[in-house]
Amino acid sequence: MFAAASAPATVANVGPGFDVFGFALEGPCDHVQVRRVSTPGVRLVGAVDPTLPRVVTKNVATAVALRMLRAVNARFGVEVTLTKGLPLGSGLGSSSASAVAATVAMHRLLGERFTDDELLDFARFGEKVACGAAHADNVAPALFGGFTLVRGGSPVEIIRIDVPKNWRVVVVHPHLELPTKKARAALPLSVALRTMTANVANAASLIAALYKKDLALFGRALMGDAIVTPVRKRLIPGCDVAMRAAIQAGAAGVSISGAGPSIFALTDSDAHAKLVARRIAAVWRRHGIKTDVFVSRIGARGALQRR
Ligand code: HSE
Repeated sequence: MFAAASAPATVANVGPGFDVFGFALEGPCDHVQVRRVSTPGVRLVGAVDPTLPRVVTKNVATAVALRMLRAVNARFGVEVTLTKGLPLGSGLGSSSASAVAATVAMHRLLGERFTDDELLDFARFGEKVACGAAHADNVAPALFGGFTLVRGGSPVEIIRIDVPKNWRVVVVHPHLELPTKKARAALPLSVALRTMTANVANAASLIAALYKKDLALFGRALMGDAIVTPVRKRLIPGCDVAMRAAIQAGAAGVSISGAGPSIFALTDSDAHAKLVARRIAAVWRRHGIKTDVFVSRIGARGALQRR
């Protein structure tokens, strides 16, 4: 018996919403297939990127599958095939896509018996295996789709918010690798009260902009992150210049996607998004760095909504 699932790339943080905001992208996906076998336990089969761990408890997809088998006290095992569509360490939620695709494939194999809260927990476990922190800002949109807000709580509360249909995001991935662990280790452990006030104001404005359908406000709020983006920009060669190029090309706002090094910018049409993409890519080309570009609407379907 087989089951399979695909999970999309995601943009997390979205400026001032560190570990809180995220949205799903159209385009690249990770794909996981699971096959029930009589031998208990989990095995990773097929070729995988040589930089990914093959040890069952260390590979995100197999670690999630093992946890889900244990949750149902299974006497059988599974073979897991992981097909990576997302680049590693890119800031596009690569580990989350693997964790979510594994979670949903196993959910289907096991008879769709889990609640949404339980599925989120399994996927967050995968994220923890990957980077040591069970943050949900990538896995929530990869699982449920759309633009999501992680309020926290127990169980973790996820709020899904509609995004105006004509808003477009352009994501540019420079061929540099920035492991999430390293990008998290660079962050301050505490911030000044006035910095916290600035981030709360901008995070609240970003959500207000979604309800007001006000892309210009969304862009201003996106760029108001006073805590995480200023630190991480310094870890990404050419980032500042690429961001300035996006704004000069008329983007409503620009920020780092997840932990980076990819950046994303916002526009209100496909044609404008493509122009912004060309300007950003040109900056990295001048630094001798190749790029991949994706244009997407904001908040594509999540793994649970894909068959
Ligand atoms: N919120 C996470 C971070 C997303 O910025 O570290 C990357 O996985």
